[in-house]
Order: sequence, then structure tokens, then C-alpha cells
Amino acid sequence: MLTHRGLVDGENPNLYFHRDDVILCVLPLFHIYSLNSIMLCGLRVGAAILIMPKFEIGALMGLVERYKVTIAPFVPPIVLAIAKSPEIDRYDLSSIRMVMSGAAPMGKELEDAVRAKLPNATLGQGYGMTEAGPVLSMCLAFAKEPFDIKSGACGTVVRNAEMKIVDPPTGTSLPRNQAGEICIRGSQIMKGYLNDPEATANTMDKEGWLHTGDIGYIDDDSELFIVDRLKELIKYKGFQVAPAELEAMLLAHPNISDAAVVPMKDESAGEVPVAFVVRSNGSKISEDEIRQYISKQVIFYKRISRVFFTDSIPKAPSGKILRKDLRARLVVGIPA
Ligand SMILES: *[C@@H]1O[C@H](CO)[C@@H](O)[C@H](O)[C@H]1NC(C)=O
Ligand SMILES: *[C@@H]1O[C@H](CO)[C@@H](O)[C@H](O)[C@H]1NC(C)=O
Ligand SMILES: *[C@@H]1O[C@H](CO)[C@@H](O)[C@H](O)[C@H]1NC(C)=O
Repeated sequence: MLTHRGLVDGENPNLYFHRDDVILCVLPLFHIYSLNSIMLCGLRVGAAILIMPKFEIGALMGLVERYKVTIAPFVPPIVLAIAKSPEIDRYDLSSIRMVMSGAAPMGKELEDAVRAKLPNATLGQGYGMTEAGPVLSMCLAFAKEPFDIKSGACGTVVRNAEMKIVDPPTGTSLPRNQAGEICIRGSQIMKGYLNDPEATANTMDKEGWLHTGDIGYIDDDSELFIVDRLKELIKYKGFQVAPAELEAMLLAHPNISDAAVVPMKDESAGEVPVAFVVRSNGSKISEDEIRQYISKQVIFYKRISRVFFTDSIPKAPSGKILRKDLRARLVVGIPA
């Protein structure tokens, strides 16, 4: 249950859009990101909203050129497609002044790659969640250009809200630079889940803090970094491995066009990280090469133990990796 006040109180309700902006809408409007940050914010300032019913990278770049799109609200799979597209030089994308990414975490490597492709655009991430009505943190670069932001960060907490990071088992508040569960409190969060007091009580505590189920940390400049979903963390003996960190490294490899990391049952470790990888067009990169590439960069328990090659990574329309589907493939025993 979201309130009118919630929707206008959190972030700047115009999201720093202007009346003469052309906002590309390729994300599904039933999703809070698109509903709020494109439709409501766009209508509020009287900007044009260009609706693209289905994502296709060539068509998207064609529309940007033809309609001189200025605001590009994306999700990581679209940013990835742009960063890896061999056709990008055929289109004039210079009208884009702002690229936003949200709905799933985007690593520093991918953010830097797309920044190199669109040097004139301000690029930044936001962090939203329907229950938090709808934005928890937003990249400041949108507000006060030019403003140096760190790649991989998803902004600072929105106005009129408080944020804290807690140790999930104990609920103790953690200091800066320590990862834990992100909690937010403020007038913009939901009233609760409709007709579901039990789920509501499990998500919002008595002091009014919404427990997001996301793991992250806040650095010395108050910028928020998302590590992963609490329930997605892979448990290697006593150690925790965040799939998103390994996925960001895999995506940075020129011979890999997409990747997802999930846990696989293991007798000695409990769980080990394994990767599903889509090779770049024409690339013959092998399982061993990929495992070595990761091993060189991480501590032992984060090493990828198996690589399964596949044609595509299953994703929700919002861009989130459907890890459940990939885990199911491991159980059935026919990966790839
Ligand atoms: C960036 O902006 C400059 C100055 O307007 C322009 O000359 C240049 O072509 C732009 N670059 C890209 C890649 O759009
Ligand atoms: C991908 O590879 C195939 C054959 O190897 C080639 O026909 C096709 O043009 C390539 N596509 C791109 C986008 O490079
Ligand atoms: C990518 O693959 C090509 C051949 O397909 C190879 O020449 C190149 O070294 C590979 N790049 C990396 C970084 O491994």
C-alpha cells in the first residue's frame, strides 16, 4: 500500500527532468521503476515519454537517434547490451544527457564501460523498491551537475528519510564501510502489504524501519553500495560470496557477453559458486580460462568451481536475473 505522499515525498518528485526532455520508456510500466520514475515524474514536468513496447538493441539506438532522446532510464541488461554492441558507432546517441540504471545492481566495470561509450551523458544508479515507495537512494550527479560520483555506487539516501545498515542476525547497527542489511525509515515507505499483516510485520519493525533484504554498505561520502540480495548470498563454509561481485568481473571480460552466478551444492563446502556464461559472438573462451580469470582476482572461497555455457541468461522484464531458474537447471542435472 503506497500513499500519494509517499510517491511525492521521497526523491525530488521531478527527478530533475525538464519540460523539453524526451524520456525513453522501454521498461514495463507495471514495475515501480517505470511507473514512478518514468511515467509519474515525466508527466509531472510535462516531458515527452517515448514508449518502446519491446527491447531490441538496434531499434532502441535507432529511436534515440530519431527522437533525440535525452533521458535513458535503463536496467543493467540494457546497459550491458549498449556496452557490448558492435553497432553503437552507427548511431548518433549524443542527445542522451542522463542514463539511469536501477532494478538490479550494476558493477563498477560495466558502469565504466558504458561511460566510455556515452562520454557526454551523466550516468548514475538509483536504488528502488516498491515497498520503499519507491526510491531509497539516488545518484546526486543528476541533481548537481557536475558532481563526482563513484562508479558502482547507487547514490545517497533520498530526502526525508533515514537509512541504516544492520547486522542481519542481531539487528545491531553497523558503522560505515561495513556491509549488512539496508533498512530505511520515512514517510514515503509503504503502509504495509495489502491484507497481509504477517508479511508486513516480517518486513517492517516496531520502530518503523523497513528491512529491505538487500545487503549493502555506506562509505565515508555517504554513498550507498549494494552488495547483493541477502537471500542470494552463496554460503561457502562460513564465508559469504555475493554473486553480483563475480558477475561484474565476468561481464568485464571482452569474450563474455552475459553471465550469472548461482550456488551449487557441494559436499565439503556446503555451497560453491558456479557460473552460467554466454560467450561473445565468435569467442571460444573455455571453462578453464574463465576460472583462471576469476581466480586471479578473488580470495579462494570466491573462486568459480564450474562454468556452464548457455545461449542466454533468463531475466525478468525488470532486468533481474532469474537465479531460481538457473538453480533448477543444476538440480535437474542438465545445465546449459
Ligand atoms: C560530446 O560533446 C561534444 C561537444 O558538444 C561533441 O563535439 C562530441 O561529438 C560529443 N561526443 C559524443 C560521443 O557524442
Ligand atoms: C556473429 O557471428 C556470425 C558468424 O560467426 C556473423 O555472421 C554475425 O555477423 C556476427 N554478429 C555480430 C553482431 O558481430
Ligand atoms: C578473446 O578471444 C580471442 C579469440 O577468440 C583471443 O584472441 C583473445 O585473446 C581473447 N581475449 C581475452 C582477454 O582473453
